[in-house]
Amino acid sequence: MQTINPPSYTLADWRGGYCSLAQEHSYWIDDVQGTIPAGLSGTLFRNGPGLLERGGQSLQHPFDGDGMICAFTFKDGRVHFRNRYVRTAGYLAEQKAGKFLYRGVFGTPKPGGWLANAFDLRLKNIANTHVVYWGGKLLALWEAALPYRLDPATLETLGLDTLDGILGSSLAAHPRIDRVNGEPRLVDFAIQTGLSSVITLYELDAAGHLVNRHSHPVGGFAFIHDFALTPNYCLFFQNPVRFNPLPFLLGWRGAGECLEFRTQEPTRVLVIPRSGQGKPQILQTPAGFVFHHANAWENQPDQITVDSICYASLPGVDPNQDFRHTNFDALDPGQLWRFQLDLTTGQVQRRPLGNRCCEFPTLHPDYVGQPYRYLYAGAAHNPTGNAPLQALMKFDLATGQEQVWSAAPRGFVGEPVFVPRGPGEEEGWILSLGYDAAQERSFLVILDAADFSRGPLARLTLRHAVPYGLHGSFVPSLYGSEA
Ligand code: CO
Repeated sequence: MQTINPPSYTLADWRGGYCSLAQEHSYWIDDVQGTIPAGLSGTLFRNGPGLLERGGQSLQHPFDGDGMICAFTFKDGRVHFRNRYVRTAGYLAEQKAGKFLYRGVFGTPKPGGWLANAFDLRLKNIANTHVVYWGGKLLALWEAALPYRLDPATLETLGLDTLDGILGSSLAAHPRIDRVNGEPRLVDFAIQTGLSSVITLYELDAAGHLVNRHSHPVGGFAFIHDFALTPNYCLFFQNPVRFNPLPFLLGWRGAGECLEFRTQEPTRVLVIPRSGQGKPQILQTPAGFVFHHANAWENQPDQITVDSICYASLPGVDPNQDFRHTNFDALDPGQLWRFQLDLTTGQVQRRPLGNRCCEFPTLHPDYVGQPYRYLYAGAAHNPTGNAPLQALMKFDLATGQEQVWSAAPRGFVGEPVFVPRGPGEEEGWILSLGYDAAQERSFLVILDAADFSRGPLARLTLRHAVPYGLHGSFVPSLYGSEA
């Protein structure tokens, strides 16, 4: 069953949002439509690839781009913008050389053909996926390596950070934050993978001190980007993906192009007690690929609900295909699914909650790990089919009703970030950094989380475009506004 809608975008417009922002800026945004809410005060940090080419060579996939942090400081009804590259060792070396010195995980080769790439297994830590502030540290995260610590006021790079020696060689880019006995906790994981894998969980208190750390062997290769958290469990979806290292070793393909999705094999759901006591329980559900989980909660001691954005298959990274020519119609859309886990019987029931293509799910931070009603996400303009994210969606899980604000036909959006203004689930603002092809500039949009039908409360246009990015977070402190 497929409804054909006329496309809501052109590929040329979408592609326009993938141009490098080489320059580092710091200015007060003066192009403001609407009114910035008086109570909105603090700093939005956002990470994403900033450079899409180097020395005349284009990236084959934007995920290979060097991390660039944007900071939006909301102060007294005005907003200050700053962007700065994470000065990773690889970034500095490549800046000096004026060309790529490392192979990109998602296929961007070094210059010089396969011979130059063969058996070069060095990874460049590109620190481009997420940026979080915790325990007094601003950290740029990339899942295959250690975080880089940054100065939150200037975004200056301070260096690699092991969180006071607790980390091994990497930390995932998807920390989850909830409360334990009223105290904030951050939980994140690291994964070592190969023929078999080990997941290590880290739980930190508000000061950044380690509360709990435990490791669990997991059978087989594991490509896991995100997890879900409840008061008692960490939940991982081990999707049926195999890794064939040969083309990577030989320099023909990037590591990310050697992943093979097995539709006939199940997804394994790993249920790991947060206490570290006891072995992980492993449940199975039909194949499907999940990058991001929306939320999870415990209905009863042995019943867990997990809501996730699920794809029928892994969105492929085609060798030799430039991402700028992506055929969206040929790819499976990400859609919201609900998984009901029964820890007693080991059964998993799953059902779709909506049809609309969506990604980057979020919610009021107080409801992480708890029963909730409202989910927010980036979404396609049309209600069916696969397309770039052009809209922001508020989804009422109780009624199935969608509220959509769309920037189509020429606008595109990124991850929504929920900024709470009260304890109610809808009490807050949704911030998202988008790209307007008509102006060839990026914009920050502010919506009232209680009611999308009002349209944006404010829309702030930057003096330039910022390439489409990944994840970000909001802190109530004012950083960087003294500039
Ligand atoms: Co992610």
